[in-house]
Amino acid sequence: MHLANLRSVVRGCGAYLPERILTNDELSRMVDTSDEWIAQRTGIRERHIAAEGETTSQLGAKAAQAALDNAGLTADDIDLVICATSTPDYTFPATATQIQHALGIKQGVAFDLQAVCSGFVFALTTADKFLTSGSHKRALVIGAETFSRLLDWEDRGTCVLFGDGAGAVILEAQTGTQSLKDRGVLTSHLRSDGQHRSKLFVDGGPGSTRTVGHLRMEGREVFRFAVGMITDVIEDALSALGLTAADIDWLVPHQANRRIIDASAQKLGFAPEKVVVTVERHGNTSAASIPLALCEAVSDGRIKKGDLVLIESLGGGFTWGSAIIRW
Ligand code: ACO
Repeated sequence: MHLANLRSVVRGCGAYLPERILTNDELSRMVDTSDEWIAQRTGIRERHIAAEGETTSQLGAKAAQAALDNAGLTADDIDLVICATSTPDYTFPATATQIQHALGIKQGVAFDLQAVCSGFVFALTTADKFLTSGSHKRALVIGAETFSRLLDWEDRGTCVLFGDGAGAVILEAQTGTQSLKDRGVLTSHLRSDGQHRSKLFVDGGPGSTRTVGHLRMEGREVFRFAVGMITDVIEDALSALGLTAADIDWLVPHQANRRIIDASAQKLGFAPEKVVVTVERHGNTSAASIPLALCEAVSDGRIKKGDLVLIESLGGGFTWGSAIIRW
């Protein structure tokens, strides 16, 4: 096998959402808000919330097991586990190691990746680098979050936006031809810029306040930057492959806000029917949102083997990124 010809091919995907659904109407009894305000500004109608004692690694392990089942693989087949999360069970050890253990994976390596809502795109890109280097054979790439634990439930500006959940994708190193016809990750583009910290951050941490802290956001400021940054990084991915929006079968964006999704899709010329949207039922599940949306579109038959899928995200930091995958 020639190393330059390796591709990271999708073998399967899985998802898990906690049972408890929190509707906008219920939220309107907790803070001064309404279903109408939330739906109009964000597109969100409801979100799932983890049960007391239900941790990020438990959600991640359920999604990962579903991905293994979907791929027809077992724990013995996985030698790399990357969990993208900003809501780890503990400060350490890494949530990925707890998922690795829960699944009975004894070989290889597991670690977390922190890029907030861009975590899944960063984790997929990292796994792709490992697999195409020839060092590892099969990766579980997981996005798992319990953002409900970071929220200030008295702040109506943020508590209505987020939800809990997990999604996972299995990538396998396979020999390709380095052409656009290859299945697998064809290109990926990551960016970050720490000057934007104050627009979206958590006001605590072990190294500063010794507390977990709460999520804080200047919503308008995030919105102002989001569409430009997202469209830039999508254009980077398309131009790296010499493609246009018309060549892409499915745009699967990070699910933060319906208005950001619609504005970016429209700016780039993606037809609305090619955009996978779950935000109305999941809210913003941060690193879990893209694999949850991917799994939903695969299981309902929209995304099929051979389709060109473009994923993109923007998150705290800011971090932002995109990747094009031939499914
Ligand atoms: N219900 C009712 N009123 C509200 C609520 C609420 N839940 N939240 C805020 N308001 C009020 C504000 O207090 C303000 O009232 P005022 O005019 O009396 O002061 C008014 O609504 C307008 O507030 P804005 O924050 O300016 O509202 P905006 O139109 O910008 O909408 C929103 C807020 C939805 C957060 C919007 O800015 C947005 O979508 N930003 C992007 C946020 C985002 O997507 N973040 C996540 C992306 S990155 C990541 O995923 C981590």
